Amino acid sequence: MMEIIRIPRIMQETSRHYITKSKKLGFVPTMGALHEGHLSLVRRAKDENDLVVVSIFLNPKQFGANEDLSYYPKPIESDIEKLQSINTDILFLPETSFIYPTNFCTYITVQNLSDKLCGPFRPGHFTGVTTVVCKLLNMVMPSRLYLGQKDYQQLLIIKRMVEDLNIPVEIIPCRTIREKDGLAMSSRNSYLKSKERLSATVIYKTLSYLSNLIVEKKIPCHEVKGKMKEMLLNEPLIEEIQYASIYDPETLDELDNYKKVNLLAVALKIGNTRLIDNMIVEINSVVV
Ligand code: PAF
Repeated sequence: MMEIIRIPRIMQETSRHYITKSKKLGFVPTMGALHEGHLSLVRRAKDENDLVVVSIFLNPKQFGANEDLSYYPKPIESDIEKLQSINTDILFLPETSFIYPTNFCTYITVQNLSDKLCGPFRPGHFTGVTTVVCKLLNMVMPSRLYLGQKDYQQLLIIKRMVEDLNIPVEIIPCRTIREKDGLAMSSRNSYLKSKERLSATVIYKTLSYLSNLIVEKKIPCHEVKGKMKEMLLNEPLIEEIQYASIYDPETLDELDNYKKVNLLAVALKIGNTRLIDNMIVEINSVVV
């Protein structure tokens, strides 16, 4: 039977109870609207720990004024059913006022990494993410934190925060789960109208085509960057490409020449829907 906890103090007491019994807690933080990507994290956390805690909290502090907070999907009943069906032990489901009481005024910002890629397009977003994740970690006190690589920048920033603030948790990066046609699973995919949904497949096609090109044909970095923009711009329903290029996977700086490990990353808008995706490409020899 899945336990549902709504109060941070009860969550802490429950976690403390298990920790004193030497139980390992695996933690999957979410904003709800759960899909197979989330569920794969929960299954893995369940396999690798004594108990799995999932949080559902639609964090207002990580949404900009013109973003989708008010219409972000909130299918709480079906989320609970999904979590029960995969034997989640604890669902932490706090109200906003418990996370951000009226006198709340402490924020955590990971400098530098938060200013790259999505940073300029979503001011304040990563401060909202790191603040809430730090709070959730203090409430759940897990041994392991499971995060998807689809939000690669978020993963990197949370890793930095955990290291910089000596938070005692192991971060487990988990591979991106995709639809059959390659589209990375995201709660925001439900915003796409049917023609937009079809055109969104160009993102995976582009990333996988170029990853293979880099590994097999060793095409120079600048040519791949040009090709990436060209392939995406050829899709008429793409309205805005926010970024699409090759980056250093540790610093997120754009690369002029390949490194051994490279990050291909894209953020774009189809209609009003903002989509992101990425792929890590390892090459044996560096091509200049
Ligand atoms: O990736 C998400 O769903 C959110 O950014 C997270 C990590 C749950 C924090 O609100």
